[in-house]
Amino acid sequence: MDKIRVALVGLGNMGRNHFRVLNAMPQFDLVAVMDPYAETLPAETEKEISLVRSMAELEMIDFAAAIVASPTETHFQVVKKLLEWDRHVLVEKPAASTYEQSIELKDLAAHRSLRLCVGNIERSNPAVAALSRVLDFGVIGTPVHFSATRAGGFPKSVKPGNHVILDLAVHELDVARKLLGPLQIKHSVCHSTSLHEICDTAEVLLSNEDGITASIHVNWLTPSKIRSLRVTGDLGVCEVDYIAQSCVVSGHDVSGRIPQSWGLEVSDDNGFCEKVQIPIERQEPLRVQLERFYRWLSGEDATDLCFGDAMVESVRLVEECVNKATSGFDVEAFESLKKGRSVDQPSL
Ligand SMILES: NC(=O)c1ccc[n+]([C@@H]2O[C@H](COP(=O)([O-])OP(=O)(O)OC[C@H]3O[C@@H](n4cnc5c(N)ncnc54)[C@H](O)[C@@H]3O)[C@@H](O)[C@H]2O)c1
Repeated sequence: MDKIRVALVGLGNMGRNHFRVLNAMPQFDLVAVMDPYAETLPAETEKEISLVRSMAELEMIDFAAAIVASPTETHFQVVKKLLEWDRHVLVEKPAASTYEQSIELKDLAAHRSLRLCVGNIERSNPAVAALSRVLDFGVIGTPVHFSATRAGGFPKSVKPGNHVILDLAVHELDVARKLLGPLQIKHSVCHSTSLHEICDTAEVLLSNEDGITASIHVNWLTPSKIRSLRVTGDLGVCEVDYIAQSCVVSGHDVSGRIPQSWGLEVSDDNGFCEKVQIPIERQEPLRVQLERFYRWLSGEDATDLCFGDAMVESVRLVEECVNKATSGFDVEAFESLKKGRSVDQPSL
C-alpha cells in the first residue's frame, strides 16, 4: 500500500480527532500540522511531525493532500491556497462561508484535476448506510416524510458567523440531499434565545422534487446530545440514532421485505407491528470518511464522499435556510416570555 503524505490544518477540537485517526491509519503518513496558535502536538504520537505556524511554512513541506479543520471563516482562503499548490483537500464542513466561494473552490479543483471534498461526516455513518439500504429495498414502502432532530448544549464560544443552522442543520440537509435528491427549502424559522442575532434554535421544512417532505429541528439548548432521524413510509417507519449507530424498522411484516442475507438482530412481533433492528457493523465515521478519501486519492470512485456539485449544494442549502428564515424569538421577546411565565419556586 502506498502511503499518502498528508498535512493537517487546524488543531482544535475537530483537528485533534483527525490527528488521532490519521495517526492510527496505515494509509496515511501525517507529516505536518499547521496551526498558528497550537503550542505542541498531542502526546499520542511517536512519529516525526512538523508543527508549523503559517501557510508560508507549510508550503515548504512535501505532502500530497491536506485535511482542513481550521475555523469555518478561514476555509475559503486556506483551501484555495492548497489547491493552488496542487494539493488534494478534505475540508471540514461547511466547505466555505458562501455559495459563491464554494463554486470557486469546486471549479478550481476541477480545473487543476484535484480531489476536493467536504467532511459531511454523517455520509460515513454506518447507520445512514443502513437507512439507505432500507429505503432502496422498499422495506418501509415509499417514503413520505423525514423528521430529523439534532440538538446539544450551547458552544462554549460562538465564532463570528456561526449559528445553529451552519453548525448542526448542515448535517441533516446533506443526509436529506443524499437520500432524497435535489431539495427545496419551503420554510424556516430561527430563534435567538440567548445571544443577540445568533440563531440557537431552528426549524426547517423542505421537500424534494417528488414532494417528499422533511422537517429538521436543531438547537443548542438541549443539555444532552440528540442526533436522530425518523423516516415514515407507507409501509413502515425507520428510526436512526446517529450516535448509537442504530437503525430500527417498525411496521406490518417488515421482515418479509428484508433480504435474508442481512441477518436480523432483533424481531419483536405483536402480530400487528414488527420491530426489527437492522444489523450494523459499527465504525468510527471519521475513519470511514478518511478511508474513502484515501481510496479516492488512489484512483477509486469517491463512494459517499461529498464533492463537486453536492459540496456546493450543501453550502447553498444552508444559505437558503438562512435567507428564507422568518425570525422567531429575539432575546428580548424570549426574556419577556420567560418573565410572563415565571413561576414561584417551591420552598424547600
Ligand atoms: N464534521 C463535524 O462533525 C464537525 C464537528 C465540529 C467542527 N467541525 C468543523 O471543523 C472546523 C473546526 O472546528 P473546531 O470545533 O475544531 O474549532 P476549534 O476552534 O476547536 O479549532 C480550530 C483550530 O484552528 C486553529 N486556527 C485558527 N486560525 C487558523 C488558520 N488560519 N489556519 C489554521 N489553523 C487555524 C485554531 O488555533 C484552532 O486550534 C469548523 O469548520 C467546524 O465547522 C466539524
